[in-house]
Amino acid sequence: MLEKANEYIKRNHIDEKEKSLFHVTPETGWMNDPNGFSVYQGKVHLFYQFYPYKTEWGPMHWGHQVTEDLVKWEAYPVAMAPDQDYDHIGCFSGSAVEADGKHVLLYTGVSQKDGKEIQNQCIAIGDGKTYEKWQDNPVIKGDIMPEKFDRKDFRDPKIWKKDGRYYCVVGNRYEENCGQIVLFSSADYKNWRYEKVLLRNDGKNGDMLECPDYLEVDGYPVIICSPQNMHAQKYEFHNGHNSIYIIGDAEKEISDFAWEKKRSLDYGLDFYAPQTTELPDGRRIMVAWMKSWDARVMTKGQKWQGMMTLPRELKIKDGKIWQSPVRELEKYKKNPIIYTEQKISGQMSLDGINGRVIDMTVELTNVEGREFKVDVAHNEEYTTTFTYYPEKHQIEIDRTYSGVNADVVCVRKIEIAEKHHAPKLHFIMDRYSVELFINDGEQTASVVIPTPLEANEIIFTSDEAATVNIEKYEITF
Ligand code: FRU
Repeated sequence: MLEKANEYIKRNHIDEKEKSLFHVTPETGWMNDPNGFSVYQGKVHLFYQFYPYKTEWGPMHWGHQVTEDLVKWEAYPVAMAPDQDYDHIGCFSGSAVEADGKHVLLYTGVSQKDGKEIQNQCIAIGDGKTYEKWQDNPVIKGDIMPEKFDRKDFRDPKIWKKDGRYYCVVGNRYEENCGQIVLFSSADYKNWRYEKVLLRNDGKNGDMLECPDYLEVDGYPVIICSPQNMHAQKYEFHNGHNSIYIIGDAEKEISDFAWEKKRSLDYGLDFYAPQTTELPDGRRIMVAWMKSWDARVMTKGQKWQGMMTLPRELKIKDGKIWQSPVRELEKYKKNPIIYTEQKISGQMSLDGINGRVIDMTVELTNVEGREFKVDVAHNEEYTTTFTYYPEKHQIEIDRTYSGVNADVVCVRKIEIAEKHHAPKLHFIMDRYSVELFINDGEQTASVVIPTPLEANEIIFTSDEAATVNIEKYEITF
């Protein structure tokens, strides 16, 4: 099965120009969650949920790409296919760790018995390129947990090592409608012991917590997860399935987490199942699937579906996670175009400010009137609009005219803090995506756009007067 997948990819490999330049995309077919984001022998590895044969979800394989600088990625052979009795329905999401000089993948094997689906945790051990599934899989079966813990929704293990012991968190369902995250520990990553529940929600909001991650940022324990079927609350949690984080208590070792303290990780239309890793220099980096389960914006004829966000550096400040693009992107920023204290009134384009593979910061220094707009990926036919409403402290994203064919959600409103009357908007565009970092990464918004590449203008509009500093770079290899 693995060889078949690798052969298929060789024959159906998509031209790089049809995809993003520096965002991870599948070589062909379908991609969802990032998996196994880890450092092994000095390189950063990223695996992902992968179905090579269609642009739709199917029996999950693990695709694999590797990078030395988090910007340029190299495709490696597919690491796993669903070819065992304990994972024949799919090799679902999981994570990786370097252990005893080997690269160990911990993932969910999905199988079916007597018409019932079961999810168990399994391992595969490899050398950074080829992986072998462990002979005694599964290594964590649901029945080592207390009784009311669901055996079917029990998936997406995230492994880490601390003080010589291995730990992992797994997403789980409790009774009918509570989501929870359970903790296990092990001396050797093969024999696991159930420890405790780290987080359980209120049963009204998010019935299964997918893709949990436990991490430490600036001395604080943090839990990240992706609750399915959340209720929207004012401007937050509108993607149906959303991604949240909760900061724990700094004094406690692997603390419990309080559901009420949840916050959105990203305010855009396309962001799910993030996973983090720690780099040797201590930075905590996050990458997410830049898509939403319910939104399909790709055009007919596109031979791939799904991509990753740019890896982002995480920091904690004022009780919140702040995100910034990995600093390695700096060295690929070329041809600066800079405008200082530029007045915008009415609708304007500015010489040299255009493009679809760019890094552009628009810092408002003064804003009057009711709205200030930035239209990107624009031409006579297409546009994607970011509007700032100063009176409402709101930013609105609108991709209605980005070339979306199907009836998908196109508008999202974001509330920003009142103190940022003149916000700073940092756009990273890579052909078919826009990632917006608001006010130095206090909030982010990720959006996929299917717009043809010839729509590359950028238009600024202010109904009264605005003054901006603009810095724009092309990103090229
Ligand atoms: C999240 C998810 C995971 C699962 C995987 C299957 O997007 O549903 O919970 O492991 O995708 O592809």
